Amino acid sequence: MTNLKNRVFSGVQPTGNLHLGNYLGAIKRFVALQESHDCIYCVVDMHAVTTYQDPAELTGNIRSVTAAFLASGIDPEKHIVFNQSQVTQHAELAWLFNCVARMGWLNRMTQFKERAGKNRENASVGLFSYPNLMAADILLYKSDFVPVGEDQKQHLELTRDIAAKFNNDFARRISELGFGDSYFPMTEPLIGGPAARVMNLRDGTRKMSKSEVSDLSRINLTDDRDTIVKKIRKAKTDAEPLPGNVEGLENRAEADNLVGIYAGINDTDKEAVIAEFGGKPFSEFKPALAELAVEKLAPISAKMRDLLAEPEEIDAILCDGADKAREIAVKTMREVREIYGFVGRK
Ligand code: TYM
Repeated sequence: MTNLKNRVFSGVQPTGNLHLGNYLGAIKRFVALQESHDCIYCVVDMHAVTTYQDPAELTGNIRSVTAAFLASGIDPEKHIVFNQSQVTQHAELAWLFNCVARMGWLNRMTQFKERAGKNRENASVGLFSYPNLMAADILLYKSDFVPVGEDQKQHLELTRDIAAKFNNDFARRISELGFGDSYFPMTEPLIGGPAARVMNLRDGTRKMSKSEVSDLSRINLTDDRDTIVKKIRKAKTDAEPLPGNVEGLENRAEADNLVGIYAGINDTDKEAVIAEFGGKPFSEFKPALAELAVEKLAPISAKMRDLLAEPEEIDAILCDGADKAREIAVKTMREVREIYGFVGRK
């Protein structure tokens, strides 16, 4: 029997080097979902410009996120890979969602508060309404599942709130037009695994992030072997050996993070890593982790370099993907305009 709830959507911003958090929390899981779902993976360039991006760098970053998708094993023949700005319906639906979402909902978004910092008055309006564009990305394709890292949880809750309010505000019209009891689905976030929140290598209480000043705090997908080894050697730890059980990782943020990274890269869980390394000192665990990271990441960065040597091919893949995405998006927007009561050709 075909699974009716089957569409997966997710996005990654082209705002700089991708790191191990992006890979383990998101991209690696995108790859696995291809086996069982219809997947749409989007390079969200319109989200990127909520803060100023140098145009030439943005072009390079769009290609490099695409290259990371492909090098990791996403198949653009069987699934859809594209950049958001090519499908203008994202912006159109985001506008309508600006009119559905409430100021109070957006005021609660912790990521806006973090990113805008103290100077809120000077943040772009786009940075504030960013989650509405994200809801539009997801709901334009009536997506059932969205694989993301834990930091996106609140945005996905907002997406559900928007879908619910839209379905409720227009319930009568939706039913009259024959769409049933609701138009947009209640999308489910797929957050989980041992690396849903990969932490900063220099401070286990903070998230691994592109915006962190110290490059030693993260492993980039483009880091070479020596850099990966050095960053893991320098990663902060405590003086104790690894605990004998997973509970022993509590209150040991750095140890917990490194064990989670090992499990994420090796497709296991923290229990399995502790079963192998429990009681061993970091002087033994870190070289094993470095070796595993190099073994799994080096082929991806090599493949990315090859792909990036032929940017026209990457651009062609994005254009083909956008054509496929647009077909779905046009149909949704035609229906949404009808639900609103806008006048125009069907
Ligand atoms: P972005 O570009 O910041 O991150 C891309 C993906 O990487 C995950 N991630 C992490 N996972 C684990 N540990 C970390 N330290 C870590 N850092 C980042 C993110 O959770 C994300 O899954 N708003 C989104 C992009 C977006 C989107 C969407 C996602 C736009 N529209 C629609 C899903 C669906 C973002 O800024 O991700």
